[in-house]
Amino acid sequence: MKIGVVGLGYVGLVTASVLADHKNEIAGVDIDNRRIEKLKAGTVPLFEPHLSDYLSRNGDLMTFSDNYQILENCRAVFVCTPSPTMNGRIDTRYVEESCANIARVNDNCTIIIKSTVVPGTAKMIKRNTGMPIISNPEFTREGSAISDTEKPDRVVIGGENTEIAEKIWQFTRSPVVKTTNENAELIKYASNAFLATKISFINEIANLCERIPGADVETVSKGMGYDRRIAPYFLKAGLGYGGSCFPKDTEALVTYARELGVSLLLVEATISVNAKRVRHAVEIIDLAMRKRSLLKVCVLGIAFKNNTDDLRESRALDLVRELSRLGYEIRIYDPAFSGNLINVEACESIEKCVEWAEAIVVAAEWNQFRLIEKMQLSKPVFDLRRILDGASFTDYWGTGIWKE
Ligand code: UDX
Repeated sequence: MKIGVVGLGYVGLVTASVLADHKNEIAGVDIDNRRIEKLKAGTVPLFEPHLSDYLSRNGDLMTFSDNYQILENCRAVFVCTPSPTMNGRIDTRYVEESCANIARVNDNCTIIIKSTVVPGTAKMIKRNTGMPIISNPEFTREGSAISDTEKPDRVVIGGENTEIAEKIWQFTRSPVVKTTNENAELIKYASNAFLATKISFINEIANLCERIPGADVETVSKGMGYDRRIAPYFLKAGLGYGGSCFPKDTEALVTYARELGVSLLLVEATISVNAKRVRHAVEIIDLAMRKRSLLKVCVLGIAFKNNTDDLRESRALDLVRELSRLGYEIRIYDPAFSGNLINVEACESIEKCVEWAEAIVVAAEWNQFRLIEKMQLSKPVFDLRRILDGASFTDYWGTGIWKE
């Protein structure tokens, strides 16, 4: 089948590569000409594990252009363009524009919206363009986007005449939720808001643990997670959630509900708990550093989580800005991000970064950061993601552990 994909970011490029790997012919469109040139030259414009293998082995099935005309003969076109939140409200401009452009070059295809959009958006676009619109939200995590697309927990397909989308995703053999456009659109928001709520919940329990001698949030979380009704996932306390989805989607959902006269108190609380995470960590680090008269800090992990180079809504980046504002000298190391930030030098190895620093902050969950356990460090270590064995250090603080 010839399938189009508009918007070649994390979601679009992964969707395109996986569908090509299942022998579909792909026409990929992005308005960013530099991105298209890179793809044509065989360069992957973003960091996502396994993506380059998928792209290189399916190169002959994929065409890329900044011109919508290449979508002419496609039977289905996925829309994967951004839906940012502006002043708390969703901005569907790019999704609407993409759909209008598709309709202009090909009025014989089905548009499948993957972008996260509030309920009612698909129907509105259907009215405006006269095109059949299917809602097919994605639930992929950056860092494991390929496997999440190959084998999703479920495939949600909303709209009428959805056979084409069912056929495209048949290879996944995942459970399919067939429903209305509105339900499909809301399932995405409700899922993200629920996961974000789990994170904020455990972060509040972490705050409590820090005040109870003998308590440790990791053990509390483990003990909770064995209960199948709770499940162990997304119960890792830390610096708070970031990334391109949770922060914007929770905000957009609250505003959307408010406009319908509904208060989503839990989601509002989730957002405000998350907003306090960086301040909380900075206060602890600052106090400990001042007590020891230290000024040079290295931060391990700058992207919003491990296995990605994505800095969007990165809590680690907020932390670096705050520490820098307080006058600390900072160097960073991130296995996937190598650019320099203003006033902050990026080191080429963990060793160099740690050697230079007087204190170490772990801000993302990369496995390789555990290397520092073997360095016999006497410098203070702040484990904001709880990935280290505290017993390997003489001066250790971890989120959610009581310390005098
Ligand atoms: C998320 C959703 O998981 C995915 O379904 C949706 O389609 C897009 O948004 P992603 O943004 O890639 O995916 O990141 P995810 O792995 O979900 O983590 C989000 C944030 O929460 C990260 O900052 C992560 O560090 C944090 N997190 C996650 C925690 O602090 N604790 C946890 O237990 C899990």
